[in-house]
Amino acid sequence: MRIRILGSAAGGGLPQWNCNCANCRAARSGSSAVQPRTQSSAAISADGRAWFLLNVSADVRQQVAAFSGLQPPEGEARGTTIAGCLLTDAEIDHTSGLLQLREGCTFCVFSTPAVRRWLTEYLPIRTVLSGFAERPWRELTLDASVELPLPDGSPSGLTVRAFETGRDAPRFVPQEESNAAGSVIGLHIKDERTGGVLVYAPGVAAISAALTETAAGADCMLLDGTFWTDDELVDLGVSQRTARQMGHVPVSGADGSLPWLAGLSIRHRVYVHINNTNPMLNDAGPERREVDRHGVSVGRDGDTFEV
Ligand code: MLT
Ligand code: MN
Ligand code: ZN
Repeated sequence: MRIRILGSAAGGGLPQWNCNCANCRAARSGSSAVQPRTQSSAAISADGRAWFLLNVSADVRQQVAAFSGLQPPEGEARGTTIAGCLLTDAEIDHTSGLLQLREGCTFCVFSTPAVRRWLTEYLPIRTVLSGFAERPWRELTLDASVELPLPDGSPSGLTVRAFETGRDAPRFVPQEESNAAGSVIGLHIKDERTGGVLVYAPGVAAISAALTETAAGADCMLLDGTFWTDDELVDLGVSQRTARQMGHVPVSGADGSLPWLAGLSIRHRVYVHINNTNPMLNDAGPERREVDRHGVSVGRDGDTFEV
């Protein structure tokens, strides 16, 4: 399976349009230590021809332009190599790119029932898209392994299992629905030919036993690296909510994701969905050295892996 990080930043990207944090200022000024990043998404393929998007970022247009594998195949007036899109939640940064991919072609969207409902009722991307293009919506059932089909129904060579990583609903979902099962999932994806396994989990509320179990046997893990500390946004005076309250386990600290990730025998352990305020985004800083020392990498747009 080929894996490509299309966008490694969290919502807002780096630099974020209205942000004056140290990283955003450095990225804006062209500093060599802080690379600009687009919003969170990855692409995977078993055969190098048909690709599945894992989330569809608000920056998908730029991401397609930067990767020849996602550009229209020769010989067709209109065409795409995108075979489907899998959504791990209903957040704007992970789903609004579907609106950019509206000019025809047919591919399926895979999500849990909760995410489908929210994208029909409250952020009606599904409803709006139906006037533009065929986007059959397929259900991802929690904890069930299923073959991932190509648009014509034939096997892609990949199997997928969705597992819960939190119960954090987007802010546009009414409070009474916000604890729905399937709000935030991770994806366990296996290439049936090579046996290679990717675990993709850009939103992780806490390191659970289920996550640890799922991580065992993975060859590549793309994990939630949103915040360095729990109080990151509170300390900057830009939010009242902690990382954990937002559904993101912080990277650092004894109960952060870094010591856990460092103890796993996974070949590629990579942070994605990294918020622009996260100090590990500075290639020259002490936080980056700490991540490096643990054998973990800070994802960059365009990073590729093969498992
Ligand atoms: C999240 O990852 O928690 C959300 O995407 C936050 C947001 O950008 O609204
Ligand atoms: Mn997000
Ligand atoms: Zn910033």
